[in-house]
Amino acid sequence: MEQRSAAAWIPDTFDLPSLAHAAAACRGCELYRGATQTVFGEGDAHARVVLIGEQPGDKEDRAGRPFVGPAGGVLDRALADAGIARGDAYVTNAVKHFKWALRGKRRIHKKPNEREIMACNPWLLAELTALNPAAVVCMGTTATHAAFGHAVRVHALRGRFHVTRLSPHTLVTVHPSAILRLRARPEWRDDYAREYTNFVADLRRARALLDVNGSDAGE
Ligand code: URA
Repeated sequence: MEQRSAAAWIPDTFDLPSLAHAAAACRGCELYRGATQTVFGEGDAHARVVLIGEQPGDKEDRAGRPFVGPAGGVLDRALADAGIARGDAYVTNAVKHFKWALRGKRRIHKKPNEREIMACNPWLLAELTALNPAAVVCMGTTATHAAFGHAVRVHALRGRFHVTRLSPHTLVTVHPSAILRLRARPEWRDDYAREYTNFVADLRRARALLDVNGSDAGE
């Protein structure tokens, strides 16, 4: 089967507005067919920290912006608790189109596969070339897969910096949706509190690296 990729859609100019404009027309894999629009990354063009999620959810697909739904709420709170202003960060996804299946009347998130993650990888590499941040935070298995170029176990790598194709300072952590799921049941309240605290602790590690490499982060 022909290996599809976003590479053919990457423009020569590597500034963020040009990349976002070109990504809107991307047909580098089949996911554009079911999605409302491309959801490109957003944030400070001089951001020193880049946070990477999996793919847009239902709300993000409609809004055209990353992390504006429930998982974004967890992320915003955790960033604030870690001392990182979302406005000082750049937030994006490993896969730029929403992959979903219909359950009743609801569009339910479907995990992107290896082919889709790697087809979208040129956009992530281009964003990081444009931004050249001090630290990259991969949240969850899909983002970590995109950073390493192959499937990895998040829990084996979590909370530490790694050298990856995205950055020599790639921190691996869990996805905020995994924390959100623990909020669903009262009997999971302790697990939720622990996982949220651990997530904030991971983000503080990224913040600490910014503090070491410059004084303007998180102000
Ligand atoms: N989950 C993600 O991984 N990304 C989003 O933008 C929203 C939810």
